[in-house]
Amino acid sequence: MFALNLNKRTMPIFYGKAALIDYLKSIKTQNSTIGFVPTMGALHQGHLSLMQQSLAENDTTVVSIFVNPTQFNNSEDLSKYPRTLEADIAKINGLSTDIVLYAPSVDDIYDGKVLSQAFDFDGLENQMEGKFRPGHFDGVGTIVKRLFEIVTPTNAYFGEKDFQQLQIVKKMVKKNKLEVNVIGCAIFRESNGLAMSSRNERLTAQQRADGSLILKTLNHAKEKFKTNSATAVTQWVEKSFSASTSFELEYFQIADETTLRPCLRKSSTKKYRAFIAVTVNNIRLIDTISLN
Ligand code: PAF
Repeated sequence: MFALNLNKRTMPIFYGKAALIDYLKSIKTQNSTIGFVPTMGALHQGHLSLMQQSLAENDTTVVSIFVNPTQFNNSEDLSKYPRTLEADIAKINGLSTDIVLYAPSVDDIYDGKVLSQAFDFDGLENQMEGKFRPGHFDGVGTIVKRLFEIVTPTNAYFGEKDFQQLQIVKKMVKKNKLEVNVIGCAIFRESNGLAMSSRNERLTAQQRADGSLILKTLNHAKEKFKTNSATAVTQWVEKSFSASTSFELEYFQIADETTLRPCLRKSSTKKYRAFIAVTVNNIRLIDTISLN
C-alpha cells in the first residue's frame, strides 16, 4: 500500500510484501542496485547513517521497520520495545523522500506461524548473545532471510554495535549462497560515548549519562589488553562493575573476531574484539570494541 501526498512529496510506504515486491519489480532495471537497511524502528542517528550510506551507494534504498517477535527471548523486552512508527516516518522523510519504507505486520511476515527456522551458524550462535538470549539468533536469521527474499537487496547495511549479529548474517548469506553484500558500518555514539540503541529511549537521563561507563570500560580494557591476558582483563572488568550500584554486568568477553570464540591465549596473527552486555533496571545494553 502506497502513501501518496500530492501536495508534498513523501516516500512510498508499504505495509504488505506483495505490493512492495511488485513496486520493486517495476523500478528494477538490469544493472540497478537496491540497498537495504533492516531495522526494528525507534530510529536514531546510527540508523540514519546506515540509510545515508545506502542512499550514496545504491539506486534505490529500502528500509524496513519491524519489531521481530521471534528474536526476543524475554517477553518484557518485546512488549516494552519502543514502537514509534510515526516519528520514524518523519525522520526518514527528513533524510530523504527517495527511501522506500516497508513496515509490515507480524502476519505479513509470518503468515500466522510465528516461529523461527533453526540455523547452524558454525558455532557463532553459541557465544555471548547466543548464550544469554537462547533462540535469539534463530529469530534474527529467520527474519533477515525472509526480508532478503522480499527485498532482494544488492547491499545490506548493519551496524557494528551488534557485531555478533553482523557475523551471523554474513555466515547465513554464505551458507545459503544468497546474492547480497553484507556491509558492516561503524558504531554511532552519543556525545558521552554511549552506543546509540533504540533501547536508550527507555533509559532515564541519569542512566543515559551514566552509560558513558560502558565505553570507558572498553577503552580501559583495550589499553590493559596490550600487556595483560584476556583472563586478567576480564577479571578487572568484572571487578569494576561489581562496584557499580546501577549497572549490572551480564558478560564481558574478549573473543577472536572471526570465530567469536573466547581468547584463551593471545596470538599475534588473530584479530580480537571485546564484547560487553550490561543491564540497568532490566534494560539491556551491548557494546564492542576492536582490540588490535
Ligand atoms: O538489529 C536489528 O535491529 C535487528 O536485529 C534486525 C537486523 C532488524 C532484525 O530484526
